[in-house]
Amino acid sequence: QKGGYEHFMLKEISEQPKALKDTISPRIDESGNIKLDEFPTNFDNVNKIYIIACGTAYHAGLVGKNLIEKYAKIPVSVDIASEFRYNNPFIDKNTFMIIISQSGETADTLAALRLGRKKGAKILSICNVVGSSIPRESDYCVYTWAGPEIAVASTKAYTTQVAVLAMISLYIGKLRKTISDDEYTKVLNEIKSFPQKAESVLKMESEIESISSYIVNQKDVFYIGRSIDYYVAMEGSLKLKEISYIHSEAIAAGELKHGTLALVEDGVPVIALATQNRLFDKTLSNIKEVKARGGYVIAIAKKGNKEIEKEADVVLYIPEIIDELTAPLSGILLQLLAYYAAKKKGCDIDKPRNLAKSVTVE
Ligand code: F6R
Repeated sequence: QKGGYEHFMLKEISEQPKALKDTISPRIDESGNIKLDEFPTNFDNVNKIYIIACGTAYHAGLVGKNLIEKYAKIPVSVDIASEFRYNNPFIDKNTFMIIISQSGETADTLAALRLGRKKGAKILSICNVVGSSIPRESDYCVYTWAGPEIAVASTKAYTTQVAVLAMISLYIGKLRKTISDDEYTKVLNEIKSFPQKAESVLKMESEIESISSYIVNQKDVFYIGRSIDYYVAMEGSLKLKEISYIHSEAIAAGELKHGTLALVEDGVPVIALATQNRLFDKTLSNIKEVKARGGYVIAIAKKGNKEIEKEADVVLYIPEIIDELTAPLSGILLQLLAYYAAKKKGCDIDKPRNLAKSVTVE
């Protein structure tokens, strides 16, 4: 069933162009607009959105917040399900909750959904398993059509969750008239380019494999980035630690000098995401800070951004895409990096120790 791949994880990483296409295409109508039959058609009374999830799905949710606030202009809070429940969320009948879960069975996520429902929120879920508990208990569900995900580490669920969130942000923006027709069309065209650009990232496999050699024998790896790059850094770091057992941390690049920079010394690998054009100079100066302490910088930038080569030790380029939509592309790149680091260490990639695919205990 691994279709000739050594691990399910690599198979699932490679399936992403198709998973993205299957998730996006059926939701575009003949006139080129997004159609989400499974979505409410009126957002007039919604004054707040909570996005709730765990792990990788939470990281997709962070990207979703950025997109919804930009295009739909509604305040969004993103919470980890196991925290949300024990704090004091402001939920009432004008609250809209987006619950993200690949399996649809995560105990904490389901409990957060039930809490929201009890307090009168409308609930939309983004799930990958048809008929699982979370969609069954939601008012609406937009499925990611990624197909079964067998490896414990989530890959194609993440990129398709981001694709759905991007479509939702445009859809709500159009309903609320907070996005111009031109921008809507421009962003939607970029979303449609995900499958083909994901394919280009997959072609970098051998380059990424060789760069992974540098991190295999390291004790700590740091990931830095700003805004969407930071959210992708969190996902890249989680992927690396869970399958390779190398300690890693994601730091908002601007936070480095508020503490973590103390850990950067000769040879410490820092994976620096610098794909956001508007923040490029700022992240570049963080890269210089790392270099000045002897860190080894593996940078990720958009194609054509050659300036970074002067500062970083190595650079991996993702295809050109608007800043808001880089996550699936840099995400795939970091999935491959984690995969090859774990493979070189000889880890049990599809079944990392102590972890389960579906976390049904709180
Ligand atoms: C990491 C990973 C986990 C899951 C998390 C939520 O690679 O797979 O962090 O994302 O356990 O699971 P779901 O999405 O099924 O609710």
